[in-house]
Amino acid sequence: MTMRAMARDDVDAVLAIEQAVQRFPWTRGNFADALNCGYDCRVDEVDNGAIRGYAILMPVADEAELLAIGVAQAEQRKGLGSAMLAGMLDMAREKNLRRVFLEVRASNDAAIALYRRAGFGEIGLRRDYYQNASGSEDALVMACELTGEVNG
Ligand SMILES: CC(C)(COP(=O)(O)OP(=O)(O)OC[C@H]1O[C@@H](n2cnc3c(N)ncnc32)[C@H](O)[C@@H]1OP(=O)(O)O)[C@@H](O)C(=O)NCCC(=O)NCCS
Repeated sequence: MTMRAMARDDVDAVLAIEQAVQRFPWTRGNFADALNCGYDCRVDEVDNGAIRGYAILMPVADEAELLAIGVAQAEQRKGLGSAMLAGMLDMAREKNLRRVFLEVRASNDAAIALYRRAGFGEIGLRRDYYQNASGSEDALVMACELTGEVNG
């Protein structure tokens, strides 16, 4: 895995993955905003320059929120999501952040399994937080403590 900072030129490739793998994808504007705000936006790139995955972490005081993580369909279930998530947690540790938290659709079994394996635990539930085809669905709030015992 080779993670590097996301550049503006990467947004087309990132958006293509996002639109293919997310039922409710971020827009081009969402990615542009994340870059403009200086969030920690990373991509995984292979030798031929193709982007396989991306992740975005938003620092908030002494914590950070994982805003997005995605892996191209053909590259899923090969450990890349776990490796990228571990890389984002390492980055947060290097900044001496206390914990990383996130919100995830209660129906997103793949992401929830990924987060649990990385050491995230459930800390809350936001009812009817997301829109979906049948109206709304809950968000799980999950957190990974970065201090004290090593997680995962
Ligand atoms: C969530 C996501 C990033 C995982 O990426 P990935 O590269 O496939 O993840 P990994 O290969 O590292 O999988 C790690 C573990 O997560 C769990 N997992 C991953 N995909 C899963 C799936 N489809 N179903 C059940 N568990 C899954 C498994 O425990 C897996 O370990 P295993 O393969 O040894 O069983 C990927 O499925 C994705 O891009 N989904 C769409 C975008 C999304 O929902 N992002 C999260 C919200 S922003």
